[in-house]
Amino acid sequence: MAQSQTVPASAVISALSYALDLTEGQPMGHAMQTCLIGMRLATELKLPQAQQADLYYALLLKDAGCSSNSSKLFHLLHSDDIRAKGDLKDKDWTRMSLDRVRYTLSHIADGATVLSKLKHLAHVAINDPTTSCDLVKLRCERGASIARQVGFSLDVAMAIASLDEHWDGQGYPMGLKGEEIPVLSRVMNLAQTLAVFWMNGGPREALLMLKRRSGRWFDPHMVRAAKLLVKDGSLFAGMDRADLQTEVGTLEPGVKLGLNNDRMDHICLAFAEVIDSKSPYTFRHSQGVAAAAVAIGERMGLPQAEVVQLRRCGLLHDIGKLSVPNTILEKPGKLADAEWQVVKKHPFYTLEILRRVPGFEQMSEVAAAHHERLDGKGYFRGWGADELNLHARILAVADVYDALAAERPYREALPLDTVFSIMEKETPHALDSTCMEALKQAPVPMPDLPKGRHLQKPQILPDLVPAHAF
Ligand SMILES: [Fe+2]
Ligand SMILES: [Fe+2]
Repeated sequence: MAQSQTVPASAVISALSYALDLTEGQPMGHAMQTCLIGMRLATELKLPQAQQADLYYALLLKDAGCSSNSSKLFHLLHSDDIRAKGDLKDKDWTRMSLDRVRYTLSHIADGATVLSKLKHLAHVAINDPTTSCDLVKLRCERGASIARQVGFSLDVAMAIASLDEHWDGQGYPMGLKGEEIPVLSRVMNLAQTLAVFWMNGGPREALLMLKRRSGRWFDPHMVRAAKLLVKDGSLFAGMDRADLQTEVGTLEPGVKLGLNNDRMDHICLAFAEVIDSKSPYTFRHSQGVAAAAVAIGERMGLPQAEVVQLRRCGLLHDIGKLSVPNTILEKPGKLADAEWQVVKKHPFYTLEILRRVPGFEQMSEVAAAHHERLDGKGYFRGWGADELNLHARILAVADVYDALAAERPYREALPLDTVFSIMEKETPHALDSTCMEALKQAPVPMPDLPKGRHLQKPQILPDLVPAHAF
């Protein structure tokens, strides 16, 4: 289905921002709440309209680089990266304090003895601030690059790149100080911190935080504006409304950015990169599934519009995987039952995110069915042949194909004969035989690497291949 110019790009980006919230350990809606606060601050600060238009998209995409440091954070702490990120949001990480030691102890080496936690803590402490700076740098640079990939201006990218800089020069990654920090980044950092403190303790906690961090984290002039809006009750009004996405849609300044096919493709490709950056084991997987689904669809003679939708489904099918911690994604060998339950929920999150994308409602069902099997033994709904349409069957075949045929950091690509012989054992009871036949007759091109990217090797190679690597 061709995209209509009447659908604003913001409707798609705000829906996909739910995925970024999941990766950051934030409640779904955090990026949109931050956008609401940031735009209200921008109005109070009387920022020019062109600057406000850049700010709007920078706020929605502020966490676009969030998945790029998940694996590194997991290997640093040996602990749940999503929980660690979520709990860090209301901590003052620029100062050594009891609070910070408590945070580190509770997020280090899950399940280890106190002694080994302390040893690990010493190791982390010695390498902190360099490590913290590297983690922030990775996230900021990737976020900025994704904003550019979607087609936004250099100012939007720069705003995201400097999101974690602080007024007193103690932030990361550049240590910029005062007005060296782009004005949009100053608004964004203030807005995202206010969103977290409002969520955790309401306006009172938000005001206390402003008092503590004014002149250290934040521009005092902006803090004064924020205090006025908190006190008159307008800064947080409607933050918990059910139709937040609609409300955020009305905030885009000036002429709304339309959504043509090219822009939709850029957005899907950019988010595929966000998904695949979460773990070295899923490297290039989304693009690989998209390529396989297109090859099957074309071989079967599907109309071009359906092939386009299949490609987008392939790119976004694992977006729910951003909800799975790297402790599970990168666990070598067998998963415990509770861990499997977390993995099995990722297509549910795919549905929850994609059904909010305008024009993608039907395809969200297809994307969310990629682990369903014709015999009803798949997940997350246990759907069977009666429920699985042709597109869902194609995507399921494409997903298994890429998981087996693609090169992985821990092994070379499997030969095609081996791939097909493994898949045939699942056909026709689980995988669709017509789709399999089409796949065998249609050579699938390997996706290109994004410019400047290389095969990302995991820091620790497992002895066992993770069975859940797709
Ligand atoms: Fe999946
Ligand atoms: Fe997948």
